[in-house]
Amino acid sequence: MYDIESKYESESFYEDLHAELVAMILGEKNQIANLANISSWIYHAMPDLNWCGFYLWNKEDSELVLGPFQGRPACIRIKPLKGVCGTAYSLGKSLLVDDVNDFAGHIACDSASVSELVIPMKKDNFIFGVLDLDSPIKGRFTERDEKGLNKIMDVLSRHLF
Ligand code: SME
Repeated sequence: MYDIESKYESESFYEDLHAELVAMILGEKNQIANLANISSWIYHAMPDLNWCGFYLWNKEDSELVLGPFQGRPACIRIKPLKGVCGTAYSLGKSLLVDDVNDFAGHIACDSASVSELVIPMKKDNFIFGVLDLDSPIKGRFTERDEKGLNKIMDVLSRHLF
């Protein structure tokens, strides 16, 4: 039904990924379905990931709660300022961690994860949650990944929340 055409090695990878993800979610208003497909798409389009998914802000409990993802089962609830996800959420900015063993308070959901990239999802200055990517390879994520995904999530968040 969907073909992932974006090639990670290509210079236009993030532009292509952006266009593909926007096209995929535009016709669908169910948030869970869209987040599930976005996590799957990114997981399959980017090499060397062992986890890709969402933690969504839960107003009632004032913490992040696990959303749609690809990978092994993960911890369900993360408080603000806890772990890489809770810290990125609280700071309202993306965090790129080359080696999670060097990040004090990192929450180890899958012992295979070594590097991590977390992107907050904002709309009108409210942070609805974060996109979390894990890799078993040290230093897997680059500034290009961080910039590309920040740009994409800024646009997608306007449709998603
Ligand atoms: N490592 C994250 C927790 C989520 S899992 O990686 C899926 C963290 O420190 O926030």
